Amino acid sequence: MIARGNIKKGGTDAQGMDVSRIKQDFPALRDGDLVYLDSACQTLRPQCVIDAVTEYYRDYPACGGRSVHRMATRVSVQMDRSREAMAAFLGAKDAQNIIFTKNCTESINLVAKGLSWMKGDVVMTTDLEHNSNHAPWVDLTENIGLKRVIVPTGPGGVFDLDAYQDSFRSQVRLVSMAHTSNVTGTTIPMKEVVEIAHDHGAMVLIDGAQAAPHMPVDVHKTGVDFYALSGHKMLGPSAVGVLYGTDESLESLKPLMLGGGTVGRADYDKVHLAPAPERFEAGLANYSGIIGTGAALDYLSKIGMDNISKHEHRLQRVLQERLDEIEGISLVGPDDPDARSSVFSFNLPGLGSHDVAMMVDEMAAVLIRSGMHCAHPYFYSRGINGCVRASTYIYNDEDDMHRLVDALLKVSKTFCN
Ligand SMILES: Cc1ncc(COP(=O)(O)O)c(C=O)c1O
Repeated sequence: MIARGNIKKGGTDAQGMDVSRIKQDFPALRDGDLVYLDSACQTLRPQCVIDAVTEYYRDYPACGGRSVHRMATRVSVQMDRSREAMAAFLGAKDAQNIIFTKNCTESINLVAKGLSWMKGDVVMTTDLEHNSNHAPWVDLTENIGLKRVIVPTGPGGVFDLDAYQDSFRSQVRLVSMAHTSNVTGTTIPMKEVVEIAHDHGAMVLIDGAQAAPHMPVDVHKTGVDFYALSGHKMLGPSAVGVLYGTDESLESLKPLMLGGGTVGRADYDKVHLAPAPERFEAGLANYSGIIGTGAALDYLSKIGMDNISKHEHRLQRVLQERLDEIEGISLVGPDDPDARSSVFSFNLPGLGSHDVAMMVDEMAAVLIRSGMHCAHPYFYSRGINGCVRASTYIYNDEDDMHRLVDALLKVSKTFCN
């Protein structure tokens, strides 16, 4: 049986979450004195996820969905379990609406390359997108005459619903936006975004890479057409992504690749595709990764996404209370900590972001990210040469926030003048 970790349902302290207990589930934290604040890139993995992956390779390393022997059947059953767990996690109607990909980038490309575009169709994004939700649209504007509307965000990257509404025009075919920004931590009001888009006859693709790991998401209630995410940003093994789609939206999509697994019937001159999700999952799959993702979802569900969201907002407030101590710090994001999800981005005066990241690692073993975070246009358009980003998750506590601020104070007092 797959181990499911230490967390018991309701296993929380008075503050909402027992982080010291959670930390014990993560071997990368157990064996060192690190503060890991780069979860927006990849999270650490709990023992139960590592066990699920190891168990696959040790006990039943066969292929799923093809052979009928006992080992293969076990793979198929576990794959189905993960698909069902992901559907339940996202509030999807049916597991058949969940397509496994290799990452959020592939999920977005599946939509960008899979819809049948007409010259002049418009795709609407914000000015704060990750390159994964930017480069595919630039490619289509250059190659098939797609038009792009970029909705400006307000100060600190806060979504501007009026600007969004005002930007609509008749040919908007798709709205494609990050649910939460990986730069500013700001979150768009998904339900309203979807409602307005549907009123204008447009479909909606939401890039949930930075939202699904940190807050409850309900694709069914919001009525979104497509929702993309990465498993490795939510405790799962590397290189597992998901594209959720409604029945109708998946029906309108051509697969990126064809081959084994995608076919219902094939003759020499004709191929009839299998229904979703199989038609989108060509070739052998990342079985261990997908099964490990199922274990990650079980772990997160036991903690509860509401608890996780509240916990991370509490950490933002802890950081905010100490901001004044750091002279000259400038935030790349909203001043209001409640408007930031799990991301805290900033610069220190006169110091490059990579220098700051290296120094806090050297001085205090605090691991943070630096650079432009794959959102180059946002930085170039504002004349900012990148920023430092500390991103939290379930294994971070208030002490970790204080250790980050103490390290920044040291850097600031030593090198900023
Ligand atoms: C908002 C956002 N979208 C998309 C991606 C791409 O995710 P992946 O590298 O898993 O494809 C990221 C990665 O950091 C992201 O933060």
